[in-house]
Amino acid sequence: MAEQDGAPAEREVAEAVDLAARRVAWEALGPEAAVARIATLIDDLHHHNHLYHVLGSPEISDREYDLRFRELEALELRFPHLRRPDSPTSRVGGPAVESLPPFVHRVPMLSLANAFGADELRDFDARCRRFLGEDAPARIPYMVEPKLDGLAMELVYQDGRLHAAGTRGDGQVGEEVTHTVRTIRTVPLALDPAGDPPPWLSVRGEVLFELDGFLEMNRRREEAGEKPFENPRNSAAGTVRQLDPVPASQRPLLFIAHSAGEGLQAPSHGALLDRLARLGFQVNPHNRRCEGIEAVIEAIAELGRRRHDLPYEIDGAVVKVDDRALQDALGFVTRSPRWAVAYKYPPDQVATRLQGVLYSVGRTGAVTPVAQLEPVRVGGVTVRNATLHNEHQMARELALFAAPGLPPLVDAEGRERRTGLRHGDLVVLQRAGDVIPQVLGVVDEPARQERPAHAYPGTCPVCGDTLHREENPREPEKVTIRCGNRLGCRAQLEAAVKHFAGRRAMDIEGLGEKLIEQLVRQGLVQGPADLYGLSAAQLAGLERMGEKSAANLVAAIEASKARPLERAIFALGIPLVGEATARDLALHLGSLEALQEAELDRLLAVEGVGPEVAAQVRGFFQDARNRGELDRLVAAGVQFPRVAPRAPAGAALAGKTLVLTGTLPTMSRDDAKARILAAGGKVAGSVSKKTDYVVAGEAAGSKLDRALELGVPVLDEAGLLALLSDSQEVP
Ligand code: IVH
Repeated sequence: MAEQDGAPAEREVAEAVDLAARRVAWEALGPEAAVARIATLIDDLHHHNHLYHVLGSPEISDREYDLRFRELEALELRFPHLRRPDSPTSRVGGPAVESLPPFVHRVPMLSLANAFGADELRDFDARCRRFLGEDAPARIPYMVEPKLDGLAMELVYQDGRLHAAGTRGDGQVGEEVTHTVRTIRTVPLALDPAGDPPPWLSVRGEVLFELDGFLEMNRRREEAGEKPFENPRNSAAGTVRQLDPVPASQRPLLFIAHSAGEGLQAPSHGALLDRLARLGFQVNPHNRRCEGIEAVIEAIAELGRRRHDLPYEIDGAVVKVDDRALQDALGFVTRSPRWAVAYKYPPDQVATRLQGVLYSVGRTGAVTPVAQLEPVRVGGVTVRNATLHNEHQMARELALFAAPGLPPLVDAEGRERRTGLRHGDLVVLQRAGDVIPQVLGVVDEPARQERPAHAYPGTCPVCGDTLHREENPREPEKVTIRCGNRLGCRAQLEAAVKHFAGRRAMDIEGLGEKLIEQLVRQGLVQGPADLYGLSAAQLAGLERMGEKSAANLVAAIEASKARPLERAIFALGIPLVGEATARDLALHLGSLEALQEAELDRLLAVEGVGPEVAAQVRGFFQDARNRGELDRLVAAGVQFPRVAPRAPAGAALAGKTLVLTGTLPTMSRDDAKARILAAGGKVAGSVSKKTDYVVAGEAAGSKLDRALELGVPVLDEAGLLALLSDSQEVP
């Protein structure tokens, strides 16, 4: 449709009338006419979606698109059995899946050899020529494409409809992620019939985050007190691999096609890309055909100059022999084609002036220096601060550069010269893929010798307590400077309570970060144990808290008292004790008392516990302030349930893998999991031939169907208890 006529108000009235007229029309439709109308609307919406998202040249207004979309929604609501899987209404994100099943690539997804610098590109060209011998043309025709820095993906179409989507995985088997990938607007749900779709087609490409949208999403996360994502590539992968498709449907993801697995033959790579475009895929408009390797080198340099203007991240260029017959003659070496190579751009470096150093205090009291910088653009983002990791790096381990853009200076023996940070230094930053930049070193300006060095403060910048150094004799660069005032230091207290209540620790539903900040700042919580004394009336007085949610929160706090021992140990936030170590400690020591009393040699006997971890655990329990808080937790009713120390190999579940599904009559899922682990078994998220037992409760889902299909034995709770009978929790 062409331009809209009339003033906005008139247009709105006209559209409302239009929608009303359409509604009258649907009400009169019989099922057969509805089938036809639905088909017309689906084709029409796919067409306009493609014009808007893939080609960037819409022909109808957003409102008109919306009207047609709503008409389709209404028809599907009225005739639910006519709802089609390729309907654009299904993009908004359907139900969550239980797991990501394996996705087998019928043609393996290969990797590419790398080339750094122009000479290595010339070597690649020379290798191709040698291999082709007399058949090599004077100038080999190449295609130069941006190397998209996202998540490699295969889409499979059967009879023109999207059938499945899978990640690359190891190249042979990835994970099926159809539920999230189908929400991406540039993934055609149905191929354009005008492009003459083959009956079976597999298309490869990259799922990417649109950069502005990514930065905006991070800004909103930070505002909400959530941790920002590190880089667009990892968050694209994280979004696509979620079980719930809703976040994917709300985030600005793109799919750009760059090759085909099966179903298309074309005389050249360029012709293949044209064919993909005609089928409705987005192909990269920055792909360039070049005659000969010198033209390739120029095209790569040109792309390098423009790379930060692209709306997504690229980490290099892919050079492919364009001619299909030459590709076939060149063939493959083990896992990569001989006819293609990936050129990697060197990471971006810039220099900027240091304005100061702030010291940030983490959850476990570790104090890290953060360089405050004159704002500078590097790798497409503006950087204002950068972490310096630790004292060692800041005080002596920074490289010295003669000038930005030159390699670091070396001493007489050829070793890189190192220095510490001084006030007002010109620092060299690098950003390689990650949003968080790295401080590589400083520029050797003569005047800097007169300026004072930056030194760590002696006391905590938040609470004023004396800081201690923790040396690591084996790795001197890993010295940690820590504030030991765990619960008396506001920075640590807030972080400690957030960690304690977190999903992987005590899992207190409804106790979010903002709420914890309010509780700490108002003095209602001075340690995790205070959570157990909060009343609904106190909570209801806080911002954004109604009476109902306050009552729910009190119940959630109460329920957390029974969390399994391993989670309760993890929740304490002992430095260096992550989930896996907490589990090892729980399984080997069996109770909080045993853990509190364990001497270093007892701790060192625990599998997975080394000297640093043992020292931290011992130090934690020797600190009177931590012991006091633990006493308060126990007095408040936190149970730290005992477990029988790890069952010997040969116990009922040693080496067995179990899968839990549905609700068990008396045991919570966490409880069942802890008992299985304590008996030497493993708990997996999905059922496969390797599963030994599926434990099914009420409302068991597709895992039960899968178990029956594969003939995996299915147990109820009583069956599980019988298996566990010789290695149970001690009351
Ligand atoms: S073609 C056999 N083209 O780079 C060649 N790959 O190591 C198949 N990639 O993870 C790959 N941009 O997903 C090709 N324009 C492009 C690409 C590209 C990014 C990724 C690819 C794979 C890796 C290859």
